Amino acid sequence: MLLAAPAVQAQLYQTPGPATPATKDQVQLYVPEDKEIGRISLPDEKLSVLIQPQGREWREFRSHTLRLLVGGLVLAMLAALGLFYLFRGTIRIHAGRSGRMVPRFGGLDRFAHWTTAVSFLVMAATGLVLTFGRPLLIPLIGHPAFTGLAVWSKSVHNFVSVPFVFGLLLILVLWVRDNIPEKADWIWLRTLGGLLDKGGEHPEAGRFNAGQKGVFWSVVFGGAAMALTGYLLMVPFTVTGIGGMQILHVIHAVLAGLMIAAIIGHIYIGTIGMEGAFDAMGRGEVDENWAIEHHHRWYEEQRRKGLAPPPPQAAE
Ligand code: HEM
Repeated sequence: MLLAAPAVQAQLYQTPGPATPATKDQVQLYVPEDKEIGRISLPDEKLSVLIQPQGREWREFRSHTLRLLVGGLVLAMLAALGLFYLFRGTIRIHAGRSGRMVPRFGGLDRFAHWTTAVSFLVMAATGLVLTFGRPLLIPLIGHPAFTGLAVWSKSVHNFVSVPFVFGLLLILVLWVRDNIPEKADWIWLRTLGGLLDKGGEHPEAGRFNAGQKGVFWSVVFGGAAMALTGYLLMVPFTVTGIGGMQILHVIHAVLAGLMIAAIIGHIYIGTIGMEGAFDAMGRGEVDENWAIEHHHRWYEEQRRKGLAPPPPQAAE
């Protein structure tokens, strides 16, 4: 049972202000900073917190700031990609397609990639239903349909976390070796990977260039942080109190916005942004000229290992 002094109870339940009856929205509880914790005889100590003032800041963040931040990040990324496309168009294979293919990703690589990618998209979509449901979906589909959708999204979000983490662990094991930073990455970053060079010059790179390494480490560290905060949110109050839950939620939601924006950039460059790039994860093999232009060092290694087709004159 909660024991609060009558004076405090009076302050809690009365609204100072006009004598005319206030509407429900106008009623504001007045809680003195030092009177938020009462005394209880129940073993569950957290029930002694009658009102947590920081909760108002968290609610303000959840209902306004977060939507502006996530919406802003996604729209800014879409606008940046739109401008980049107008300036650069699709980055073509400079020498044209050779028709000779070099194996790039085996079955296990592609299984790991698509498991992570599809689960990520499902996690993003179901999470965004919760973030933007109230302002965007309720006006469109109404409260009853949204209730069903929100409950369904929440369950799907929980269950799809399993293949997401599984895919994440698999890509970590499969690709970590080729994603270790090296000196060539610095040159790649300094020249922005030749992305702005319409003459088709690309700095040399191994199996993965510095941009791809950036995506890899963002997904690994970002995904691990999403999983950690997400699983703690799934088992409320087992590790942290109310304040900790709010911090975990803010980290989870802000990281979601950052990762969604970053992955939109990744999807762009893997599809309409660059000719021949999708083949790598689609068919598992890339055109020889694409390999030479974008991953020259890797292509040479593949040739030395006998994994890339011999040059045409040697094949004749
Ligand atoms: C193992 C991975 C993950 C787990 C366990 C997890 C778990 C959770 C949980 C428990 C919630 C709170 C839902 C609620 O309000 O009841 C949540 C919210 C959310 N999650 Fe995840 N999540 C994971 C990964 C992701 C990923 C990869 C994304 C997207 C990139 C994502 C995006 C979101 C978003 C946008 C919200 C809603 C935030 C809000 O508006 O309050 N999550 N997640």
